Amino acid sequence: MNSNETAKHAAGPTGTGPTIDQETLLQNETDPLTHTPVHLMELEGVGKHYGNIIALTEVTMAVDMGRVTCVLGDNGAGKSTLIKIIAGLHQHDEGTFKIMGQERKLTSPREALDSGIAAVYQDLAVVGLMPIWRNFFLGSEITTGRGPFRRLDVKAMKEITKNELADMGIDLRDVEQPIGQLSGGERQCVAIARAVHFGAKALILDEPTAALGVKQSGVVLRYILQARDRGLGVIFITHNPHHAFPVGDRFLLLKRGKSIGYYDKKDITLDELTAQMAGGAELAELAHELEALGSHGDLAQELEAEVAETAGQLPH
Ligand SMILES: Nc1ncnc2c1ncn2[C@@H]1O[C@H](COP(=O)(O)OP(=O)(O)OP(=O)(O)O)[C@@H](O)[C@H]1O
Ligand SMILES: [Mg+2]
Repeated sequence: MNSNETAKHAAGPTGTGPTIDQETLLQNETDPLTHTPVHLMELEGVGKHYGNIIALTEVTMAVDMGRVTCVLGDNGAGKSTLIKIIAGLHQHDEGTFKIMGQERKLTSPREALDSGIAAVYQDLAVVGLMPIWRNFFLGSEITTGRGPFRRLDVKAMKEITKNELADMGIDLRDVEQPIGQLSGGERQCVAIARAVHFGAKALILDEPTAALGVKQSGVVLRYILQARDRGLGVIFITHNPHHAFPVGDRFLLLKRGKSIGYYDKKDITLDELTAQMAGGAELAELAHELEALGSHGDLAQELEAEVAETAGQLPH
């Protein structure tokens, strides 16, 4: 596993995050001025308010080339807020966000793209009736000829699309096919291949497997690894520890806008990650309440069994 020697150490379950240990972390990236190693991206104590609502607070994490950083959390945990900050849609109002060691506050998705950060959203902005190759090049079309003879270089675009998809191991019958005919998983894969082709250094995937079945999820997870192997720093957002664990190098767990843990893969097991996500203590409380109500006996029993099961799995 390529992460273990280089990834940072875990914070405790209640910690706000580790301090960055530059020595053990970085191999690929160096600051162009000082030649000291830097992360591709690094967030330290990042927070964001919407008026009175604290959507995110004290979040620390790093993204490196050839690594997958997973962000896990339930509804309202702050996952989307976090990636909006990284993708240039919102600005943080606490902490620091650095790209290649430079402190930044991105003011638009364009600025994020120019810095090599590409985001793939769950509800992909694709034009359903357009062929796959048109979607692939949307907004970045290749043209040929000059002045009045300028026209789209359809042949080149089709060929590049086909090759890029093949390079990612995606075998689509025909790039002329409307993208709307592809499955959700295949569309995600096209979006990933597109980001790779247009030179993204960092790829953010917001719940790419949320709406997919087991098989399609597996396909998307495989492309996440492909992107990683091509040297991209991947941020994979999900609420499913079973999807995160096999592909992730690091795991940031968010709950109600706070970091409840930041682990290197070597410091956590799938069972522990699942237990952390399930929130053992909360399940116990809920089982108690249901019992007190005297109804839903079966549900209370089920919850108790689940509590017993998760209790032994929580990391210390
Ligand atoms: N534009 C906004 N204005 C006000 N509050 C917001 C805004 N966006 C998010 N929030 C609040 O911030 C908190 C975190 O929301 P966020 O969308 O980041 O969560 P999430 O982890 O992505 O959840 P989900 O899994 O449901 O997508 C929530 O309490 C939400 O109500
Ligand atoms: Mg969200």
